Amino acid sequence: MRTYGCQMNVYDSARMADVLGPLGYAAVDTPEAADMVLINTCHIREHASAKTFSELGRLKQIKQQKDGDYIIAVAGCVAQAEGEEILARAPYVDIVLGPQTYHRLPEMVARAERGAAQKKLRADIGLNKPAARIAGMGILDTDFPVEAKFDFLPAPTDAQGVTAFLSIQEGCDKFCTFCVVPYTRGAEYSRPVQQIVTEAEQLVALGVRELTLLGQNVNAYHGDGPDGDAWTLAQLAYRLAAIPGLERLRYTTSHPRDMDDALIAAHGDLPQLMPFLHLPVQSGSDTILAAMNRQHSADHYRRIIDKLRAARPDLCLSTDLIVGFPGESDADFAATMQLVRDVTFPAAFSFKYSGRPGTPAATMAGQVPEDVKDARLAELNALLLEQLTAFNRSLVGQTVPVLFEKAGRHAGQMVGRSPYLQPVHVLGEADLIGRVRLVDIEQDHSFSLSGRLVAEPVPDLSSPAMRMTA
Ligand code: SAH
Ligand code: SF4
Ligand code: F3S
Repeated sequence: MRTYGCQMNVYDSARMADVLGPLGYAAVDTPEAADMVLINTCHIREHASAKTFSELGRLKQIKQQKDGDYIIAVAGCVAQAEGEEILARAPYVDIVLGPQTYHRLPEMVARAERGAAQKKLRADIGLNKPAARIAGMGILDTDFPVEAKFDFLPAPTDAQGVTAFLSIQEGCDKFCTFCVVPYTRGAEYSRPVQQIVTEAEQLVALGVRELTLLGQNVNAYHGDGPDGDAWTLAQLAYRLAAIPGLERLRYTTSHPRDMDDALIAAHGDLPQLMPFLHLPVQSGSDTILAAMNRQHSADHYRRIIDKLRAARPDLCLSTDLIVGFPGESDADFAATMQLVRDVTFPAAFSFKYSGRPGTPAATMAGQVPEDVKDARLAELNALLLEQLTAFNRSLVGQTVPVLFEKAGRHAGQMVGRSPYLQPVHVLGEADLIGRVRLVDIEQDHSFSLSGRLVAEPVPDLSSPAMRMTA
């Protein structure tokens, strides 16, 4: 399984693995060693999308070497957007499935296996020319079914670590004019509260200590609650924070429009909610924000940040920014730079606008030349790097809680993450894994930090409670 794109695809791949396990499939390290390969694709920008076809070209060769005995499945957002085209351009692909139908994967795989077996038999008894053997059955399932796939998925069996993603909301009704997500993921859907709580508890039982709640518009969450009302993300966060053993809670990605006061207040109330928030702004120019159909102004964004910082003064912000959206003038771009200076984003993703087929912005007047986009991106990235560097340096000399995840590359080294997602290295033992410990940060290494564990207070063995546990 190869996964491209956002965290939701990472989550989807994990769930597809859960679905495939009972069929006898398990992960291998290379496509050559596999009987089946599934690529989970991303359509968000042209560059992401193009990877699908180059990857398929490589897989075709492996399939030929294996005499056709090789199932190729294409899942995710390119599959959804260009399913027919994939089967036409790459007829050796066996299965094309969209993000909303992966609960039906067992049925599709069974059909592909049957199809491959029949082809082989026909070839063995001389009914087929060898070249025809690489042609698959071409199963295409890119429906937006009425049933929710989540109702049909097995419980997670392997959490693969201390931190996990959990999809709680999917799809988008916002229709930003540059974005394919409303077309590839479909309409907004929120999973019921109880289903999410159950999955969260299962993950915690598997050793997970940190959950990142996922949704394309995660703070528009409005799932059915146990009381019959639709619950907000804030309500869900309080409920999940009550799960014993769950140390940390995050959510991504939010839309500024849906950042309500209750959720902002939860950041002040809930110690589990990490002081790090990814809140895409896209642009600092109101003209461009309107053309993007973002439904918020730059000032609205600034006001939300002020409220968030009032609730949680140590909050660190991350964002997404697009340069070179159609019609973006030098003044519009300057407004983006100003907003970045005003808010400061120690983490950010910056993109050159990429015209996507079928989206309104792709045919707007005023498409920005590539060299202008390049220059603006370079200028923006320089500022973002400055902010990242300054933030990391500001942590040196501070004491931060770190959730330890795994052994580091060097002997005796353990790695965890700060509340702000930076990797933090310390010298320590393997029993740190899954625990939150305070670390005195000593050094900044640009993209990671290192420090020393703060000694834990020695338990007072004279107290009756401690004698019981000791
Ligand atoms: N609401 C989702 C959007 C996923 S896309 C989320 O925020 O996670 C992630 C980011 O990709 C967007 O925030 C946007 O900055 C960028 N993006 C989306 N479409 C794009 C396009 N056509 N060109 C350039 N960047 C784009
Ligand atoms: Fe795309 Fe906008 Fe929806 Fe985010 S809110 S997924 S950018 S349409
Ligand atoms: Fe890409 Fe689809 Fe995610 S287009 S960013 S994989 S929602």
